[in-house]
Amino acid sequence: MLVASAAACGSTWAGDRALGEYLSSECVTCHRPGGESGGIPAIIGWPEDSFVAVMNAYKLKQRPNPVMRTIAGRLSDEEIAALAAYFGSIKPAKVP
Ligand code: HEC
Repeated sequence: MLVASAAACGSTWAGDRALGEYLSSECVTCHRPGGESGGIPAIIGWPEDSFVAVMNAYKLKQRPNPVMRTIAGRLSDEEIAALAAYFGSIKPAKVP
């Protein structure tokens, strides 16, 4: 099986934001789109490369959280890049 490491060789996937929005429905049951809530960290507005690196850290079991390991382990590099593009583009909602 090919283990692609786009970040390591300097290139990055161009994330498909529409795919990311579609995939995000699973994530936002825990990660509220408005930001940090109930101990679940905010994942919006991150630089895309940081987001991809963190998701890969869960996938490679370098981060301990079992829920995120399972979730990240199911996602392809393309899907992670898409999620990075989508969540990275969201700004915290401002309540007037
Ligand atoms: C069942 C609840 C749940 C779901 C669903 C979930 N997450 Fe998480 N996520 C968490 C928790 C809890 C943490 C904090 C884990 C830790 O401390 O390592 C976390 C951490 C993260 C982090 C790291 C945040 C930080 O500040 O270090 C990212 C990025 C992330 N999740 C992305 C996602 C994405 C993308 C999805 C959907 C594909 C998703 N999560 C779905 C509960 C969830």
